[in-house]
Order: sequence, then C-alpha cells, then structure tokens
Amino acid sequence: MSNLNIRQLSYDFEGIDFVWNPQNPAFSYLANVISFQTIGFEKFICKTVHEVLPLIEDHMLRAEAEDFAKQEMMHSKGHMTHVRGLIGRYPDLQDVFNESVRDFESKWAAHSTEYRLAYSAIVEGTSLPLYKIIIRHRERLVLPGDARVASLLLWHFCEEIEHRSSALKLYNALVGKPFYRLRVFPDVGQHLAANMMRIADRFFRIVPEAAGIDMRQAMADVPRLDRARMTASLFASQLPFYNPSRGSVPDYCSIWQERYEAGADMTSKTVLS
Ligand SMILES: [Fe+2]
Ligand SMILES: [Fe+2]
Repeated sequence: MSNLNIRQLSYDFEGIDFVWNPQNPAFSYLANVISFQTIGFEKFICKTVHEVLPLIEDHMLRAEAEDFAKQEMMHSKGHMTHVRGLIGRYPDLQDVFNESVRDFESKWAAHSTEYRLAYSAIVEGTSLPLYKIIIRHRERLVLPGDARVASLLLWHFCEEIEHRSSALKLYNALVGKPFYRLRVFPDVGQHLAANMMRIADRFFRIVPEAAGIDMRQAMADVPRLDRARMTASLFASQLPFYNPSRGSVPDYCSIWQERYEAGADMTSKTVLS
C-alpha cells in the first residue's frame, strides 16, 4: 500500500476542437502538445520503473513505485483518447504522434538505467512549480474551454502533484549522486524541448486552426510575478538537494480528490471549478 490513489476517468473526444479554449488559443495549443508528448514520456517512466522494481528493497517504496507507474498509465490512457480525437479530425497528426513516441523510445534505449532514473526525476521535479500555477489560474487557462480537456488536465495535474516526490525517491534510493542529476539536466531539457518544439511545428504545418497562434503566449494571462515565481521554483526543483514534499500544494488538489472520492462527475464544469 502506498499513499497514492489509482483513479480512472473516461472520455470521448470525438469532434474535439484544436482550439478547445477559444479564450486562450495559445494555451489550447500548449495543452495539445502536452497530450501528444505525455504519452511517450510516461511510457519512458513506466518502463524505467518496471525495470528497477526488482532492485527496490524497501517494500513501501516498491509499492509507491508501482502506484506511481499505474497513475502514469492512467494519464496516458486519458491523453490517448484526446490524441485520437485530434487525429480523427486531422489524420496527418498520426505521424506526429508516432514520431514523438519513437523519439522517447530511442532516448530510453540510448542511455543507462541511472540516466533514465535521472531523466524521470528531473521532469517529475518540475510538476509542482509548473502545474501549481496552471491550477491556481485555472479560471483563465483551463475552465473556459471544452469540459473534457479541462477535466483531463486538472485530473492529470492534481495527480502529478500527488506523486511529485516518487521519481526523486526512486532516484535517491537507487542512484543517489545528487550532482549527477544536475549534470545531465541540460541534455534532458534539450531533449524534451526539441520533442515539444517538433510537435508544435508539425501542428503548425498540419492544422489550419494553428496558424497565427503563438504558443509562447500560453501563460500570458498569468500575472508576471507568478510567472517569475514559477521560473525560480523550476530552477530550484533541479538543485541537488531539492525536496518536493516541502513545497506548498494548492488547496484545489485536495478539493478535487474529495469530490472524486465522493463520486462527483469530474468531467462537469460546475464540479471542476
Ligand atoms: Fe502523468
Ligand atoms: Fe508524473
């Protein structure tokens, strides 16, 4: 038993608009990129966790690692339905998706277990700073849009915050070496950014609605001070002795969990707000 809960939400994204939040096309663009990228990345994490499970001696940590991978698999299932909905409207996006998944598979195969654990810990380390700001500004970024995407993102981001320490715990238990994580950070960041920009560029060429949208403006509605705080926290999250369990978590995360556990419809906008 771990402290993580495995939840499942089902969606039907048939007919989903590329600009699913007309009040914020740039954030819509970014969220679509996240859906396409997440699946390859979460597969990377799950393969890494399954690879190291037999090496984990602490049974509590092993249970947490198993649940961590289960949560990621559920997220990928949800994002896959979103990706399928977009491919249904723009069939050429299938190649974009395949390319992203292959990119993560090659990255996984090209490196050691130590690197794969560092990669997972680095990216998961960004969860709290990044998703906290989106959750706090959900009224502007997420909620005005299509309820299905809003629901998928809020579910995923709340659970990313819930398991924000898991990858780092695994890294610390099996690799240690706090400075190695910092050393490979530029390579990890470069790989992720290149994957993301490739997807964004393909969208631009394939999806007519993407024309004229500048994805870099996705967070423009968030006050400058909050964005500056996020950048500082993202930097801090990569420092050798960072402890994600110490950071403050938005109240919304526990509200979301309570509503889910009470059986509320987590795809309804009134429940989500
Ligand atoms: Fe996830
Ligand atoms: Fe995660």
